[in-house]
Amino acid sequence: MNNYDQEINRRRTFAIISHPDAGKTTLTEKFLLYGGAINLAGSVKGKATARHAVSDWMEIEKERGISVTSSVLQFEYEGFCINILDTPGHQDFSEDTYRTLMAADSAVMVIDASKGVEAQTRKLFKVCVMRKIPIFTFINKMDRDANDTFALLDEIEKELGIATCPINWPIGSGKRFKGVYDRDKQCVITYSDTEKGTKEGESMEISAGDQEALLSAIGKDAADLLLDEIALLDGASAEFDLDLVRAGELTPVFFGSALTNFGVEFFLQHFLKMTTTPLPRQADVGLISPTERDFSAFVFKIQANMNKAHRDRIAFMRICSGKYEASMEVKHVQGGKVMRLSQPQQIMASERKILDEAYAGDIIGVFDPGIFSIGDTICMPKEQFQYEGIPTFAPEHFARVRQMDTMKRKQFVKGITQIAQEGAIQIFQEFNTGMEEIIVGVVGVLQFDVLKYRLENEYNVEIKLEPLPYEHIRWIENKDIDLNKLTGTSDMKKVKDLKGNPLLLFVNAWSVGMTLDRNKGLILSEFGRD
Ligand code: G4P
Repeated sequence: MNNYDQEINRRRTFAIISHPDAGKTTLTEKFLLYGGAINLAGSVKGKATARHAVSDWMEIEKERGISVTSSVLQFEYEGFCINILDTPGHQDFSEDTYRTLMAADSAVMVIDASKGVEAQTRKLFKVCVMRKIPIFTFINKMDRDANDTFALLDEIEKELGIATCPINWPIGSGKRFKGVYDRDKQCVITYSDTEKGTKEGESMEISAGDQEALLSAIGKDAADLLLDEIALLDGASAEFDLDLVRAGELTPVFFGSALTNFGVEFFLQHFLKMTTTPLPRQADVGLISPTERDFSAFVFKIQANMNKAHRDRIAFMRICSGKYEASMEVKHVQGGKVMRLSQPQQIMASERKILDEAYAGDIIGVFDPGIFSIGDTICMPKEQFQYEGIPTFAPEHFARVRQMDTMKRKQFVKGITQIAQEGAIQIFQEFNTGMEEIIVGVVGVLQFDVLKYRLENEYNVEIKLEPLPYEHIRWIENKDIDLNKLTGTSDMKKVKDLKGNPLLLFVNAWSVGMTLDRNKGLILSEFGRD
């Protein structure tokens, strides 16, 4: 294998999905610790001050002490070059959180062992399923009292509809947490608390067949329970099948405690072996392999106003094939222009560094003078193709926008259209009306504040937002539908998106089902496409 292929083959690009507080940040910190990217876990990100250092580009972030956009981390571990895509969680949950998953080749799902599957995990999981990417589960906080292990697995299978295969098995939890059983090696790894950041704990590895050692390490009760559970498990759980994992139909499950750094390296090592190298991507000319020599990438996220003085934007691209070299000429397909990418950089948690080269699988952020849109393709000047677009994700909050000063109509239309084109918000209109009636839809409510703030600060336009009760949105997939003949429910509203696609807004989920029942042949989708 030549050096070029080697570079691509050692890359692993994944996103971590979880509900807030499940331990995503803590787990990421421990990964970085193993990768040697930081010396002491906890110094990269997670605390309010560190988060500010990452991206204090917008007042709104400072006021709230949260990061509006996500970052990408790259580090090396045992010859692998790892890219972790952070999916913003708390109040800053937005469409960007979903889009980030479009750039990943697999996902790590962190679940709090005492909470099980939570709302945000469920939402992000749906996007992973749509993309059929492998999903790896890390059940965290075993050092605290956890739900029953079988019940946790059952919940994942039932709620998320994916088969589970435990790679290790916990022995107790909370104060009685004794460690995990490695099903493959058939040995017990005893629990040790390495909270203070030392890499290796005092863990022991004991063969499950060595009765005496097992009893003295974990005690009779724990040993008996473990042996019973293993017997049950071997009969009940799905067999490990790498093909099913790669197809996103089976999730390998690991147990551990990110805070005390137990089970993290075990997870990392197994995960890196099981997950994929950069995946081929669908373009209008067919699948493009990452090992193709010609550079190509697509834009999955645009971050506006990182520097207030310049009103610049950063376009985040996922490299899909080839190698990017500093100052090379590329073509922006949608803009039809050959150009040089300006200030390509890797956005690290605490710093940005200008890069000289990057390979398929990597994420780069480039200065965007306002030319890129979400989903755009960048390729070599001689090439001409487009990557499959990025779907529009269903907003969950809606508001009618009222402009305060009608004299500023032009600025208002320009501002709101631009912000919508960047992908920060979605705008909808009723049929047969112009821009005077605009409904804004967002995935996370913070985006309403972002919109208001940006219109005021960048376009000098004041707006008022009136919340609307809609919570469910469905794009109409049927191309030849007569909207006037559609018989919906009384709460249903027919609107169109920025591209003119028809869609329906509903107040409750029941109405969605009712409308489907009343209109045979109607196809509704939660994702909008070009
Ligand atoms: P998130 O990024 O998914 O939102 O979660 P984060 O890592 O910030 O963790 C949320 C809280 O859970 C933190 O506590 C963190 O220390 C704790 N935590 C993470 N992993 C474990 C674990 O394995 N065991 C236990 N017992 N706790 C864990 P916090 O009190 O909110 O913050 P902090 O003051 O400790 O940083």
